[in-house]
Amino acid sequence: MKILVATEKPFAKAAVDGITDIATKAGHEVARLEKYTSKEELYAAVADADALIVRSDKVTKEVIDAAKNLKIVVRAGAGYDNLDLAACSERGIVAMNTPGQNSNAVAELALGMMVYISRNCFTPGTGTELKGKTIGIHAYGHVGKLVANLAKGFGMNVMAFDPFVPAEKIAADGVKVASSIEELYSSCNFVSLHIPATPQTKGSIGYALLSKMPKGGCLVNTARKEVINEAEMVKVLSEREDLKYITDIAPENAAEMAEKFGKRFFATPKKQGAETAEANINAGLAAANQIVKFFATGDRTFQLNK
Ligand code: 3PG
Repeated sequence: MKILVATEKPFAKAAVDGITDIATKAGHEVARLEKYTSKEELYAAVADADALIVRSDKVTKEVIDAAKNLKIVVRAGAGYDNLDLAACSERGIVAMNTPGQNSNAVAELALGMMVYISRNCFTPGTGTELKGKTIGIHAYGHVGKLVANLAKGFGMNVMAFDPFVPAEKIAADGVKVASSIEELYSSCNFVSLHIPATPQTKGSIGYALLSKMPKGGCLVNTARKEVINEAEMVKVLSEREDLKYITDIAPENAAEMAEKFGKRFFATPKKQGAETAEANINAGLAAANQIVKFFATGDRTFQLNK
């Protein structure tokens, strides 16, 4: 079988070598399309692929239509808002992700971003410490749980809100459970976002929640830009000169925000959350192993379009 690794943002060499090794040992062939700049390049590369590994690359209906032999697509990572699951299902293509594999990298970045913004984006002047502050974990999945743990190491108080995780499970980690999303935002100096981008969450973080944050509050986004209502973000940061926003996914209006809000706003130039050798290796090799197992035994663990 031919496995195409299509990554606009390439994996580290060790991850590519590992994927190739796993695939070739199982008798498969690996092709690579990296740093591509047009959709047409992806359409051409996927034409004869039996399996596809991607990162945040968009696997649209057009990509699926161009991939006549495709049987499986694996998003090497957690968020799968880049996959058109309906188009996959229509063609009987199995879609998977690799949950948890790059979580530690994202969690470490969330804490790093909190330190960065608390120290005036590393410019001269007096900053603040994380110790003794309260962090709210908005969604307690793989990344949220790790952020909670790291935050405890910094001496922070940790609270979480996740209607999909039983409260006892969150409390068992020594984390206070917020009874509502409003309680989370109104109680926490930092809120760290870990919600996926879905029709329900898109644009859901805006004025109503952010204006509840205590003085000096900071939103930390290592999730998705789509969950933010950007116009309302501008409004609340304009009205509340104490609030801050740091994000790993630059908003559409990043230039406007940088100009208006100075050191109260920072966006990484390109999403860095999973950009570590370790995360690339974990997610990339997991994707390769899942594909090999699928072709060998029909295993569908981690299938998203059931
Ligand atoms: C994920 O959902 O796994 C992260 O956002 C990482 O995305 P990336 O593979 O594009 O870095």
